[in-house]
Amino acid sequence: MTLFFSGETIHLVNAKGDHYPLTLKAGAVFQFSGETIAHDAIIGLEDGTEITLSRGSRFYVLKPTLAEYTLHMPRGAQILYPKDLSLICMWADIHPGAAVVEAGIGSGALTMTMLNAVGEKGRVVSYEIREDFARRAVANIEGYLGKAITTDRLLVRQQDIYEGIEEEEVDRIVLDLPEPHKVVPHAVSKLRSGGIFLSFLPTVPQVELVVAALRRESAFSDIETFETLLRTWNIDGRSVRPDHRMVAHSGFITTARRVKRLPKKEPVRPEEAPLSERETTEKE
Ligand SMILES: C[S@@+](CC[C@H](N)C(=O)[O-])C[C@H]1O[C@@H](n2cnc3c(N)ncnc32)[C@H](O)[C@@H]1O
Repeated sequence: MTLFFSGETIHLVNAKGDHYPLTLKAGAVFQFSGETIAHDAIIGLEDGTEITLSRGSRFYVLKPTLAEYTLHMPRGAQILYPKDLSLICMWADIHPGAAVVEAGIGSGALTMTMLNAVGEKGRVVSYEIREDFARRAVANIEGYLGKAITTDRLLVRQQDIYEGIEEEEVDRIVLDLPEPHKVVPHAVSKLRSGGIFLSFLPTVPQVELVVAALRRESAFSDIETFETLLRTWNIDGRSVRPDHRMVAHSGFITTARRVKRLPKKEPVRPEEAPLSERETTEKE
């Protein structure tokens, strides 16, 4: 059974599905449209309990899912949406024990999703040029996953990833920044064989650059690009139809696999080919 404790961030959710994040603090009071409730009345309740404010408004008190938390946490940089976070984890195959390098940390949405996926034995190293973004992201991550995770499994480097990557034999490189093509040469030397490169980009010219950079390197195969659209539906009596509004565009995901190719075969001149092959060629 999950019971709420002082210091925890919970969501108050009304019948319309609106979320109000609240960090519980013993002795504090939550105010909402002229109504109140003491935090002490929530601390110790079970996840999912319904509560009533001073004038009768009702809310469910819920521990936010990771997706809900990322959508409502304070932002510096634009975050990735849950639809993209989930696909990135699957397509980059972020698994327990993985050693991941990412850039930049932004508001920390992708970082915390990957920290969750790499588990106790995995590690995420995040390159970020902006110190203020890094600080906010770490606070966001700690607010959901706890302090132990940012000390044990996360290393934030305040460095420009275009200049290079310090880690060796990395399992995955995941990039959400404007010019991932500049990281491709570093990925060749720092990704382990079989490792995965993934970039998330909002525009087509950026995708063209990263795909061209990957194709220039014989060290990458299986280069693919895709996007995903998530459309919610209205199900209300006879009104069963897609919702009128949606996030129609977020970005394109490009993935590539680091491989070790055999040396290229030298073309064989006809006079050097074995006799049997020469006969076949001549007949044709
Ligand atoms: C779109 S945000 C990342 C958002 C993040 N993935 C999230 O889900 O919250 C891009 C971040 O990359 C950082 N950045 C841009 N260029 C960089 C570089 N060359 N090296 C490291 N970080 C960089 C920016 O400061 C910004 O924080």
